[in-house]
Amino acid sequence: MDKIRIKGGIALNGVIPIGGSKNAGLPLMAASLLCSEPLILCNLPHLADITSMANLLGQHGVEMSLAEDLGQVANGGHCLKLDGSRITSTEAPYDLVRKMRASVLVLGPLLARCGEARVSLPGGCAIGARPVDLHIKGLEQMGAEIEIEQGYINAKAPRRLRGAEIVLPFPSVGATENLMMAATLAEGHTVLVNVAREPEIVDLADCLIAMGAEIAGAGTDRIIIQGKDRLHGATHRVIADRIETGTYMIAAGITGGDVVLTGTSLKLLTAVGKVMNQAGIEVTDVENGIRVRGSSGNGRPVIDGVDVMTEPFPGFPTDLQAQMMALMSVADGAAMITETIFENRFMHVPELCRMGANINVHGASAMVRGVKRLTGAPVMATDLRASVSLVLAGLAAEGETIVNRVYHLDRGYERLEAKLAACGAEIERIRAS
Ligand code: UD1
Repeated sequence: MDKIRIKGGIALNGVIPIGGSKNAGLPLMAASLLCSEPLILCNLPHLADITSMANLLGQHGVEMSLAEDLGQVANGGHCLKLDGSRITSTEAPYDLVRKMRASVLVLGPLLARCGEARVSLPGGCAIGARPVDLHIKGLEQMGAEIEIEQGYINAKAPRRLRGAEIVLPFPSVGATENLMMAATLAEGHTVLVNVAREPEIVDLADCLIAMGAEIAGAGTDRIIIQGKDRLHGATHRVIADRIETGTYMIAAGITGGDVVLTGTSLKLLTAVGKVMNQAGIEVTDVENGIRVRGSSGNGRPVIDGVDVMTEPFPGFPTDLQAQMMALMSVADGAAMITETIFENRFMHVPELCRMGANINVHGASAMVRGVKRLTGAPVMATDLRASVSLVLAGLAAEGETIVNRVYHLDRGYERLEAKLAACGAEIERIRAS
């Protein structure tokens, strides 16, 4: 397995281009199942999770090819053409689904378009149980008959899904996406209440609207969808990845550097920008991006009173909790981080402590007491965001850090080493022989 070697202690200086959002890209790709004309997606990142979704869609019969010369939407990059004209299978098998929980996003579109779907339950994952009960209950309210058999969700809607008023008990991102996609082809009106407000939901709604769907309210906690008999093809540009953006904002802050992130926007990360500014790291809007300058004075961020609680958007994202903890661990002072979205998302803590961090976990909260310096160590990546927090800690640490099991990073960070090295970091991938 590949490893990453980092020699820490170098302030990052330079420009980092931000890619398209993985978490927006995955549901957008699943949306290609909704219509018999091609959907063209531009600015998709080149990541293992995107490949997993492509493999899954391929086995449903979606044909994919690279499309070029699409002018402004492509902005010079490649685009992926997804042609769902012939759905050859409505089954999403365990072997493909278990690799990535977001595979469950094919359930709503398949059921709405084909009247049936058999999708493996994604099962647990390192950061918690993560059930899909809200997806299932919502589809049942739209008239689907669903049974769980031998680890599979067997869903049928032979007489078309029907619009319904569905109140989510928790604003689940995935359930909002699945139900919104299903409702675009349902008969009549659907009202989704207490839904997720994440920018990825708005991006999906924008694309569905370009495909002919009638959707109002995306970005608020209430979305109204008028079902259509069919949708048509469209071309859509995926929004910037706000989690990649936040990760590099923290990389600049933790090393006391000066970095400009391009192709992204601070509007996607207001809560994160606020926390960093409070800690004395200067985060400002610049044209087509964000500039982050590490704290002046003794060079360390100051975190006394800068407590963080993860929350659904527009709150502080759970996907940046581990990275923020790495930053706090080398700051001046003490602060509390509370995780409210996932029940088991502190697996990076023992690894950060092996590098010299002073962190105590009490239930869903972690008390971080900043130390003057971390020291490099061999560490083990456990999940996507935990892995990158160890890379960030390694950038700030004295000496050499080796991050093992980096395949987690490849699920969510494109050319991570190259982007950091371009800003002066001493970082390299050691390929497994
Ligand atoms: C998405 C993101 C993930 C992010 C998460 C929260 C993608 C591909 N992934 O995941 O990176 O960390 O949002 O911002 O976009 N829950 C239930 N029942 C359900 C669905 C969810 O109990 O049917 C619970 C989950 O176990 C979890 C919480 O709700 O505790 C949030 O999950 P959800 O918002 O659905 O996250 P995902 O869509 O899986």
